[in-house]
Amino acid sequence: MADIESLLKEKRVFKPSPEFARQANWNKKTVREHRKAGEKPERFWARMAKENLSWFTPFTKALDWKPPFAKWFVGGKLNVSYNCVDRHAESWRKNKAAIIWEGEPGDTRTITYGELHREVQKFANVLKGLGVKKGDRVALYMPMVPELAIAMLACTRIGAPHSIVFGGFSADSLRDRINDAGAKVVVTADGGYRRGVPFALKPMVDEACQATPSIAATVTVKRTGEPTEMKAGRDVWWHDEMGKASAKCAPARLDAEHPLFILYTSGTTGKPKGILHTTGGYLTHVTTTARAIFDLKDEDVYWCTADIGWITGHSYVVYGILANGATTVMYEGTPTYPGPDRFWDIIERWGVTIFYTAPTAIRTFIRLGDEHPKGHDLSSLRLLGSVGEPINPEAWIWYNKIIGNRKCPIVDTWWQTETGGIMITPLPAAVDTKPGSATKTFPGIHAAILDEEGSEVKPPDGGFLAITRPWPGMLRGIWGDKQRYKETYWSKWKDTYFPGDGAHRDKDGYFWIMGRIDDVMNVSGHRIGTMEVESALVSHPDVAEAAVVGRPDEITGTAIVAFVTPRGGVDAGETLGKALLAHVTKEIGAIAKPKDIRFTDVLPKTRSGKIMRRLLRDIAEGKESVGDTTTLEDYSVVAKLRGEEE
Ligand code: WTA
Repeated sequence: MADIESLLKEKRVFKPSPEFARQANWNKKTVREHRKAGEKPERFWARMAKENLSWFTPFTKALDWKPPFAKWFVGGKLNVSYNCVDRHAESWRKNKAAIIWEGEPGDTRTITYGELHREVQKFANVLKGLGVKKGDRVALYMPMVPELAIAMLACTRIGAPHSIVFGGFSADSLRDRINDAGAKVVVTADGGYRRGVPFALKPMVDEACQATPSIAATVTVKRTGEPTEMKAGRDVWWHDEMGKASAKCAPARLDAEHPLFILYTSGTTGKPKGILHTTGGYLTHVTTTARAIFDLKDEDVYWCTADIGWITGHSYVVYGILANGATTVMYEGTPTYPGPDRFWDIIERWGVTIFYTAPTAIRTFIRLGDEHPKGHDLSSLRLLGSVGEPINPEAWIWYNKIIGNRKCPIVDTWWQTETGGIMITPLPAAVDTKPGSATKTFPGIHAAILDEEGSEVKPPDGGFLAITRPWPGMLRGIWGDKQRYKETYWSKWKDTYFPGDGAHRDKDGYFWIMGRIDDVMNVSGHRIGTMEVESALVSHPDVAEAAVVGRPDEITGTAIVAFVTPRGGVDAGETLGKALLAHVTKEIGAIAKPKDIRFTDVLPKTRSGKIMRRLLRDIAEGKESVGDTTTLEDYSVVAKLRGEEE
């Protein structure tokens, strides 16, 4: 509530500039018309699907909605790689840059639509040669190299859903995801670069594949050139196979509801959910929103800094951007390598016009000092975006002033892995922005703030964010778990989607997203479940019990704090702390490492045995009064946890 109050005090309003509005893809009038049309979402999205995509067979019905199961664009046939590549390669865009790639060491590659067309077809043939058929799953575990985008598009060409596993996840996480999806092939690389040093990926694949019966083959891109073991009969090199492959592979004519990809994301249990997206609805959603919200034009050099391993990279580094025939920049490495100005250097050298990043990155740059962006010519920029977590007004204002030179609209875009594309956002020529607010729903998207019973909450009170109508990019399910899909997203209210975020609206109807209200933490814009980290901790032989909570952090938004009870006789000290960090890294990946581990002989529990997380959160934040402790079993625990007895 304190957050809500402080945000409510934010009164600054920024109006779209007339210069920007004059040239925008969607001006005020278009937006007004689309909002009106969007009151009938099916009709609106059907129009967008026809306008923005190429179909082999037109659809006969926009939406078939049997809650909570939706089918969009029924009867339509299309292919994502055709929409993202062929139709541009067959036009004047043939020699236009599709991907501008920059490796961390400073090497660069520019891939035109014509080249991308050949590479995608070749890799589609490589996959076919390895026995991948329509419907088979392919796992991609790669660094940010162009081959990742090529592999994704090749999968879509033959109708093999991909499951991308972020390169920062451990071998165990990869193994679990491969097994859950039953993937047939893994595409990887020998490694990538991070902070100037090569890190290895293929050995993780080898480790994972000791227990993945579905995997028949692996393909490895040579990126770092580090010595890499290859297992005969299973492992092949990307360059060997591509050298032999034909550059002709017709795009499969796929049903609009054909599975496009699975992407695992954290939920409230220890087991990540495989979020399933399908072809026609997803592509309509990301293509339309990219064009309208980023005002994407042929002259633009668009850069989204997200790793393709997350949904932002899927939707707004690759699919939504290439479908519009735009130029997308891909950067391999760390934002601050070799110096704190790497991002600004990239913007200046390539003449980036649209820049989409996360509040965590912005806060990091604020701390590093204004001299770094100020030392570069950023005048090519014309629009800025933010995604992944609430942006605090101070960071918004800095972004506007120091990066945007007060002339770039900022689009603060709210959405999720599950929503596929952007849902709540300013439209840069038509919506006044307020720092910290994602403003209003995109046309054709319907949201509300509801209470537990499903009644609408009156402004400015807080409640649960809810999406009240189906939308084309919505998840179609959780891979292999219909029940969990229903329970997680559709059981709180009738026929209404529950995203798991708290929010409120102001008197102008603007949405202010307050963050997760479930046991999911948002660390540097990445979702991590408290339960996942807890399961990882308790799987260590020296741990009896663990509870994990999030604490607000100035840079990463949330920091992970773990309360751990060691087994009897185990010494709770620095050695155990280090061992646990290594253990979590092995079980999940370095992104899930707690920032703070506190050892305790008991965890605060209610009389019915439930761990009192709210209390732990208060303690982690160092709050003086620690909320309601009336149900606490043993009050002395609180004093112990705060360290008052040491
Ligand atoms: C949070 C990332 C406030 C939110 C695209 C959501 C945001 C979760 C914003 C999804 C925003 C994302 N303002 N919060 N503009 N964007 N979030 O699945 O809590 O990695 O539920 O998708 O990030 O994270 P995910």
